[in-house]
Amino acid sequence: MKHFLAISDLSPGEVQDLLDLAIKLKQEYFTQGNPPYFKGKVLGMIFQKPSLRTRVSFDMAMRHCGGDALYLSPNEIGLGKRETTADIARVLSGYVQALMARVFDHAHVLDLAKWSDIPVVNGLSDYNHPCQGMADAMTIQEKFGKARGLNVAYVGDANNVAVSLMHVCAKLGWNFTIANPEGYDLNAKAVGVAKDISEETGSKLMFLRDPHEAVREAQVIYTDTWTSMGQEEETARREKVFPPYQVNAKLVGEADKDVIVMHCLPAHRNQELTDDVADGPHSVIFPQAHNRLHAQKAILARLFGVA
Ligand code: CP
Ligand code: NVA
Repeated sequence: MKHFLAISDLSPGEVQDLLDLAIKLKQEYFTQGNPPYFKGKVLGMIFQKPSLRTRVSFDMAMRHCGGDALYLSPNEIGLGKRETTADIARVLSGYVQALMARVFDHAHVLDLAKWSDIPVVNGLSDYNHPCQGMADAMTIQEKFGKARGLNVAYVGDANNVAVSLMHVCAKLGWNFTIANPEGYDLNAKAVGVAKDISEETGSKLMFLRDPHEAVREAQVIYTDTWTSMGQEEETARREKVFPPYQVNAKLVGEADKDVIVMHCLPAHRNQELTDDVADGPHSVIFPQAHNRLHAQKAILARLFGVA
């Protein structure tokens, strides 16, 4: 593994290997603590957008393993504005040992990877959010194990988080159903990629409009914000379209009785996810957020060739 840009770049075996390592590193962290796997390594973290989880979990992942992280704010770098992505990648390659980037345009993360001599991790783009997808799969496996044929239902905006969830489900042989309003469909290229993966793994993909149909027999219900970062001017229009896709107690009651409810966070409470569900017995939103730490340690360990 040279970079970590998309879950679809990995084989099903590589995805499972990362998940197994994440579980191992989590157990190790909570028993004796992680040894200094990343000693002498510094992760440069480029952010074009705000972040709580991604910023803090990457920083702490490096510190737990004896390394360090450097936060580079949107104003400092001016990716593609103050300086070209190619120049930034080549300069930082001489200072730090890996890069993590959260960008608007997916092309920027691809460009960083093309021009850097060090590993690049995608910390969210307008296309996907693969670190989130790995933490999500880890959370699902902790609850349901590795069995194939699990039903994962995503309800709401077919965004970057949905793309990575679809791809990790396809890789692991889980069935992925999405219900989203017309005009807010998944990226067509991402769907094509998922269909190719599913032919290999037997995962079933379904693309629906009706959230009630989507959650029937689901063991996992997943939702995310109706308005992603960068789409703020569409907020008012989206708030008119998306209310039928709210994950509330009624919808959760239509799923499998052991269903878990997931959200990558930040949540817009009582919009896409009601308070009673977010804080109710089916919710795993906080263990899911905490698993970002462990999943990312595994990604960094593979990129550095340690652990
Ligand atoms: N889920 C997630 O990536 O959260 P942040 O935007 O806070 O990093
Ligand atoms: N879809 C959201 C995810 C935030 C972690 C966004 O891109 O803003």
